[in-house]
Amino acid sequence: MRFSVLSAVTACCALRPALAALYTAPSQLPNSKKYDYIIVGGGTAGNVIATRLSENASKNVLVIEAGPSNLDFEEAAIPFVCVELSPNTPEDWNYTTVPQPGLNERSINYPRGRLLGGSSSINYMIWNTGSTEDWNRYATVTGDSGWSWNSVQPIIKSIESLVPPADHHDTTGQVIPSLHGTSGPVGISLQGYPSLLDNRTIATTKELPAEFPYNEDMNSGFPLGLGWPQFSVADGTRVSSATAYLEPALNANRSSLDVLINTQVTKLIQTGTSQGAPVILGVQFAQSASGPFYAKNATTEVIVSAGSIGSPQLLMLSGIGDKKALAKFSIKSVVNLPDVGQNMQDHTVLPNAWSINASFTPDDIARNATLFDEVLTQWATTQTGQFATPPATNIGWFRIPNDSSIYKTTKDPSPGPNSPHYEFIFAVFDSFAEPEPTSGHYMIISTNLFSPTSRGSVTLASTNPFDFPLIDPALLDSAFDIFTITEAVKAAQRFMAAPAWDGFQLGQYGDFAGVTSDAAIEQYARNSAATVFHPAGTAYMSPYNAPHGVTNPDLTVKGTKGLRVVDASIFPYIPSMHPQGFVYVVAERVARLIEARQ
Ligand SMILES: Cc1cc2nc3c(=O)[nH]c(=O)nc-3n(C[C@H](O)[C@H](O)[C@H](O)COP(=O)(O)OP(=O)(O)OC[C@H]3O[C@@H](n4cnc5c(N)ncnc54)[C@H](O)[C@@H]3O)c2cc1C
Ligand SMILES: *[C@@H]1O[C@H](CO)[C@@H](O)[C@H](O)[C@H]1NC(C)=O
Ligand SMILES: *[C@@H]1O[C@H](CO)[C@@H](O)[C@H](O)[C@H]1NC(C)=O
Ligand SMILES: *[C@@H]1O[C@H](CO)[C@@H](O)[C@H](O)[C@H]1NC(C)=O
Ligand SMILES: *[C@@H]1O[C@H](CO)[C@@H](O)[C@H](O)[C@H]1NC(C)=O
Ligand SMILES: *[C@@H]1O[C@H](CO)[C@@H](O)[C@H](O)[C@H]1NC(C)=O
Ligand SMILES: *[C@@H]1O[C@H](CO)[C@@H](O)[C@H](O)[C@H]1NC(C)=O
Ligand SMILES: *[C@@H]1O[C@H](CO)[C@@H](O)[C@H](O)[C@H]1NC(C)=O
Ligand SMILES: *[C@@H]1O[C@H](CO)[C@@H](O)[C@H](O)[C@H]1NC(C)=O
Repeated sequence: MRFSVLSAVTACCALRPALAALYTAPSQLPNSKKYDYIIVGGGTAGNVIATRLSENASKNVLVIEAGPSNLDFEEAAIPFVCVELSPNTPEDWNYTTVPQPGLNERSINYPRGRLLGGSSSINYMIWNTGSTEDWNRYATVTGDSGWSWNSVQPIIKSIESLVPPADHHDTTGQVIPSLHGTSGPVGISLQGYPSLLDNRTIATTKELPAEFPYNEDMNSGFPLGLGWPQFSVADGTRVSSATAYLEPALNANRSSLDVLINTQVTKLIQTGTSQGAPVILGVQFAQSASGPFYAKNATTEVIVSAGSIGSPQLLMLSGIGDKKALAKFSIKSVVNLPDVGQNMQDHTVLPNAWSINASFTPDDIARNATLFDEVLTQWATTQTGQFATPPATNIGWFRIPNDSSIYKTTKDPSPGPNSPHYEFIFAVFDSFAEPEPTSGHYMIISTNLFSPTSRGSVTLASTNPFDFPLIDPALLDSAFDIFTITEAVKAAQRFMAAPAWDGFQLGQYGDFAGVTSDAAIEQYARNSAATVFHPAGTAYMSPYNAPHGVTNPDLTVKGTKGLRVVDASIFPYIPSMHPQGFVYVVAERVARLIEARQ
């Protein structure tokens, strides 16, 4: 959906006031202040850690964020318009991938948030906390039972606050409240405005229960089935790590917390040696490639939370990575860690459109400036209406059949039999068609691959920290991945053939029109698929003393002192659901580990 009048948002909604201790240039930093912790990246993970560590008034924390404040982008608060926040906007890094062989050599946009809150400030707000098997696999492969499902349960509950949806509808049977926290910083809620798909989608779970069973709460640890997603939305407004963690801390004028924005960390600096290992407590930073360059040392730790692209890039620029690869750029090796930037995984999205027999969908809002203004004004004044809810309506999680032929050659890559291979996301407009159709009504079932076997990489393109690295998520680059996405499309076709859709769905639309055979689905997928925006694994954790991996189970960087990486890059396997909830859990757990050590 293209909201050409989105600029109206800024005109309609007053910006909130600037916050104390939010510095916009390095020269403003208090010179004599010593920081116990310097956090690189005020994104999803970084803000959680910064807020937790600065709760202790005798610790000083500095966050350095490359982008601007989230408060500069009022539209980011409006759930429904999230699809407008990227790609190639002031809130985005504007990355693109290298040509993807699995996508018929296409290069695709690769959005990442570049503002306080990071990607949590621009994402689509789907809130998942994983299958039991996701977390138990992390515990097994790291040898740290602190990552197990049972161990992270109290952390999940402490993060969440389940609140009523924006339309205050009765959510009985749509969520199991006892599974959720009620007083954590991250407000979560169900769909806040009804969609004309809802009744048909739920009816299909009754018509085809064997293949598409209803799941009352996909965040129970047992996600399989179809149900109502929870969103990081409260009071009809986006919840990010900036709004839930950082802003309240800044508003409380904690002298222990300073935040420097519009400033990129360009290098991590070795400040000494301890027991034969480099101590890395220094950071260098600048606002542009031409400088000036500034430096600061932490007294206790540097925590890198620059995300799955930014973190490995910064490590490599600092000599932490594959010694041989860095030598080609004349970068002096500080620690030889060949897995930095490797092992990258991502989820693949494939938005399948159907024409529908409807007289009104949200497409009509995008096509009518008067109506758009009305809907926007409703949101601005009451935080209700269509804009108060994200675009996804229902979500389903499914597996390929146990007797699938692909298992003759590929071992099941999912975390276990209770975890999904693929996802359905329902949406009632054609948000992804380019160009956006100017008439007609459409719905989407996006079939998304959530257990890829493909693994790609992030590598340096140059030694200039302001150049983008080479990003290769290797989408649809394996026989398993193309098999699974093909199965997912066929499952979506079976779903839409259920009686609930009779007289409503009028046939496949756009790139998807006429696509039925396996071969046609494969070509369509390779031509139309893109990213669900979930890169992970580029600084993955492994057992202490393991010869592989980048981080230890406590997320300290192997072979160093004083340095951790805490963000989506640390997952040894990509989460089998939407990852933002996992990232909050990782950040909260590590904050507790650090505090316990004090
Ligand atoms: C468009 C989009 C939609 C998504 N939808 C969903 C969804 O619906 N549900 C879900 O669960 N997940 C979703 N995700 C994924 C989810 O948001 C991310 O996995 C998660 O937020 C990543 O957190 P992070 O802390 O690893 O990185 P980020 O939140 O991206 O934070 C990294 C921060 O570091 C900053 N930074 C980077 N390099 C430097 C540097 N050198 N110096 C200083 N600062 C730096 C960045 O600007 C950024 O603020 C989506 C992501 C996108 C982009
Ligand atoms: C706060 O930090 C100080 C100094 O390191 C430490 O002595 C104290 O125990 C910490 N307080 C809490 C509540 O962790
Ligand atoms: C991304 O593109 C937008 C729109 O052109 C631009 O405003 C923004 O500065 C770009 N961001 C970066 C990091 O280059
Ligand atoms: C869905 O069904 C319920 C119960 O029958 C009804 O009250 C509601 O209006 C329907 N919703 C839509 C959007 O048609
Ligand atoms: C924080 O500082 C601002 C500006 O000095 C002030 O208006 C506000 O009341 C303070 N807030 C708290 C909680 O002390
Ligand atoms: C950081 O520490 C190193 C080693 O002690 C020192 O050489 C350097 O000057 C320090 N940098 C700053 C900015 O204080
Ligand atoms: C656009 O929306 C307005 C306000 O709801 C409505 O009055 C008008 O008829 C709509 N225009 C068209 C062309 O549908
Ligand atoms: C598929 O196999 C798993 C064990 O690997 C089992 O738990 C599950 O019940 C099987 N599913 C079906 C539909 O047979
Ligand atoms: C569209 O739906 C209406 C009922 O709402 C029905 O009368 C009509 O036949 C449907 N059109 C098609 C093409 O199925």
